[in-house]
Amino acid sequence: MNTIGSFDEYNKVYSESVSNPEKFWADEAEQFYWRKKWDKVLEWDFSKPEIKWFINGKLNITENCIDRHLEKRANENAIIWESNDVNEPNQFITYQELHDRVSRFANVLKSKGIKKGDRVCVYMPMVPELAICILACARVGAVHSVVFAGFSSTSLSDRINDSECKLVVTSDGAFRGAKSIDLKAIVDEGLKSCHSVESVIVLKRTGSEIEMVPGRDIWWDEAEMGMSNVCPAEEMDAEDPLFILYTSGSTGKPKGMVHTCGGYMVYANYTFRTAFNYKEGQIYWCTADIGWITGHSYIVYGPLSAGATSVMFEGVPSYPDMGRFWQVVEKLKVDIFYTAPTAIRALQKADISFVDKYDLSSLKVLGSVGEPINEEAWHWYDEHIGKGKCPIVDTWWQTETGGFMISPIAHVTKLKPAHASFPMPGVQPVLMNSEGNEIEGNDVEGILTIKYPWPGMARTIWGDHQRFKDTYFSAFKGKYFTGDGARRDEDGYYRITGRVDDVIIVSGHNMGTAEIESAITEHENVCEVAVVGYPHDIKGNAIYAYVISYHKPENEDKERKEIYDIISSTLGPIAKPDKIQFVSGLPKTRSGKIMRRILRKVASGELENLGDTSTLLDPNVVTEIIDGKV
Ligand code: WT7
Repeated sequence: MNTIGSFDEYNKVYSESVSNPEKFWADEAEQFYWRKKWDKVLEWDFSKPEIKWFINGKLNITENCIDRHLEKRANENAIIWESNDVNEPNQFITYQELHDRVSRFANVLKSKGIKKGDRVCVYMPMVPELAICILACARVGAVHSVVFAGFSSTSLSDRINDSECKLVVTSDGAFRGAKSIDLKAIVDEGLKSCHSVESVIVLKRTGSEIEMVPGRDIWWDEAEMGMSNVCPAEEMDAEDPLFILYTSGSTGKPKGMVHTCGGYMVYANYTFRTAFNYKEGQIYWCTADIGWITGHSYIVYGPLSAGATSVMFEGVPSYPDMGRFWQVVEKLKVDIFYTAPTAIRALQKADISFVDKYDLSSLKVLGSVGEPINEEAWHWYDEHIGKGKCPIVDTWWQTETGGFMISPIAHVTKLKPAHASFPMPGVQPVLMNSEGNEIEGNDVEGILTIKYPWPGMARTIWGDHQRFKDTYFSAFKGKYFTGDGARRDEDGYYRITGRVDDVIIVSGHNMGTAEIESAITEHENVCEVAVVGYPHDIKGNAIYAYVISYHKPENEDKERKEIYDIISSTLGPIAKPDKIQFVSGLPKTRSGKIMRRILRKVASGELENLGDTSTLLDPNVVTEIIDGKV
């Protein structure tokens, strides 16, 4: 497997990859096992938009993630599982065992009537069965839709209904630090409004008391009884959907991003090996949850397709104490460690003895994802975790992009703290100004777009191709609009400056303001609401809600609590505002548009320079908002 060994080589590979992208990606794709080779590498038209890679190629991604490794590494670990409970032994799952367990569960899916193209919703804790389940879906050609197990019953049912899932796989409960969560009860509640679901498979994890609906629900173990551990993989077209993963948008309901079998596989694999400079035999740990794209691409599909050993962690960084990550790094001798700035900032605040008592000398490469990493966190990560000898790959990408877009290459790119640095081979970023013109040269700032397709890009939004076009391909003609702003510095390094739309990145997760606003307006006394983000020490951004009530709340704290409860049950606890301010009006332009810029400034405490408020319908509301700031 070829990786890039020097910066000169990066420059050479990069320029070849953009002068002849089709040859570049065909060479990468050659390394996989295809049942039938493609006829043509790429067809594309961003105006429709239509993107197709490896046309008429036939494959099954699980043959590439599992079967093809059996000859050489049947007894090597594919997954090492680390429990939430520090005393529970690890599970070491070899490629052979993974093969057997995935095949067995694939046979279970078939016995439940799941066929190629059917959608399966997966709502599970971070246990090996979660990875096994999605691979089993891929093996039979079913489209998995993983819903993060921190989402509420309403979020779950919305997602199940949107893609009409036939089956749900869940567990009785989940452990998360000192807490346990009754997942099955949330599923039962959610399924009251889902008519497409025929069966529910329930894994036993916490042993909590649950209800099983006769004829619909079955325990995982029971379902597996008597099932063969051989299951031939379904032949898939390169462009068949592999999975749907929902992400929040700046307006309306979550978007079901659709990723494909062929292009996504090639891209997740290439970017994994290249950016981390992965070497055979290394132990790799990504701390994300498989409920997010990071877990899909960089716990499951990227590492397993590369034959790596991927660590899967059920717990949280702070339990039983703030040394948990470092204890696992020492125990499992992790070579490559990939986490999020929000976790680093939280751990950075703990006593340094939580780091220093562990031997971190196995580490070779560190990674960061989810939001811009601030310089302070970068330096702490570099100094205390990497001991100054591990490159930090600050990987910029999105649910929509499937894999890394802009990232240093470990041991190759000279690093600048807080800079995602250079595009991955095959990625062609372009900065645009708001008039729609390309900004050339260095030492410039603009809106980040991509001007050429890459194999890992999402192909559509499930059931709403028009929205896919409107959201990503309409802002700038012929370009993919990322929603992020970026600076290209004097040396050509990219630095992501943050969202330019109404999406807030909270603890590295995408939250749409519109979604939170519509949840808050469900409170009977809420008339109108505006939600903005403001900088937060640990989460990166936190949520600030300005609420107009019908009647002045008699007890503001009581009303805040009621709003929190509504958000917890409709969207889940991660969408809770840190601050709620009751106001009598919002700063609006004469045409009725809320001036979020002003609200953002007040929320972040920048009260001096609020900019021009003369265009407001009622400039007095600004004074009131400043006076009542919480
Ligand atoms: C948004 C995508 C990519 C998986 C996790 C989040 C922000 C992500 C970085 C980074 C600066 C980053 C962007 C992006 N973001 N990584 N390294 N530096 N910003 O996936 O929920 O789809 O969010 O996260 O704003 O657009 P997501």
